[in-house]
Amino acid sequence: MRTKLVAGNWKMNLISTQGAALVDGFLKRVEVRDDVDIVVCPPFLSIPRIRDVVRNSAVKLGAQNVFWKDDGAYTGQVSAKQLHEFCVDFCIVGHSETRGKFGVLEVPETTVPFFGETDETINLKIKNLLFYGITPILCVGETLAEREEGKTDEVIKTQLLGALAGIDGSELYQFVVAYEPVWAIGTGKVCDTAEAQRVCRFIRATIGEFADPEVAEDVRILYGGSVKPNNAKELFSQPDIDGGLIGGASLDGESFLQIISSA
Ligand code: PGA
Repeated sequence: MRTKLVAGNWKMNLISTQGAALVDGFLKRVEVRDDVDIVVCPPFLSIPRIRDVVRNSAVKLGAQNVFWKDDGAYTGQVSAKQLHEFCVDFCIVGHSETRGKFGVLEVPETTVPFFGETDETINLKIKNLLFYGITPILCVGETLAEREEGKTDEVIKTQLLGALAGIDGSELYQFVVAYEPVWAIGTGKVCDTAEAQRVCRFIRATIGEFADPEVAEDVRILYGGSVKPNNAKELFSQPDIDGGLIGGASLDGESFLQIISSA
């Protein structure tokens, strides 16, 4: 039986005092349940402060990205070893805002690849996170053009197999994957529920081919992309959707609480 999970991805929003006030506010109101895990993923700089707020509470701490080396001359990067020091439990990897061309600022003639995550670097990040006992939240999803060309399943399979290459299937126990169609993120265009369920089932089946089908049954698969209080219940009631990765709506305490109670 999988425990539902609702994770808030704050992206580059809120200074630490605002984040602390947000979490403090919903901690006072959130119903403590053991059938749903709640995670907040603040910006790196807010992690120490939010860690103090969520300590001994029902809320777990996540990061939004990580670098795959432990330490060294990697200006501006943060390692899993450093996240581990701050008791980070989860870490998002492969978000479409950090992958390949979606992390590339398209200025004619001076294309600057400032995030440029690839399946290969995502794979290295996952391995390092697992080493430190931090649960990866691996994001996969197709663009609108890929969907329109009928390539959704192919894209997702490539992303999954690339991210998981060389990882022992048994390590995927407690792993989290988020299906985030790129065209649904921050757009208000939520994926049709039946289609979201179909893709999440496909993700589970693909993991089952890679690892043991029993391990695949334990992997939590979230849906992300314009989840709001008015659509969360329907999405989370699907058999293969184990919760959500919430962007915009996680910045509002009331909306996030309503989404949690839908899980
Ligand atoms: P959204 O973002 O809920 O604002 O669409 C989701 C995400 O990017 O994880």
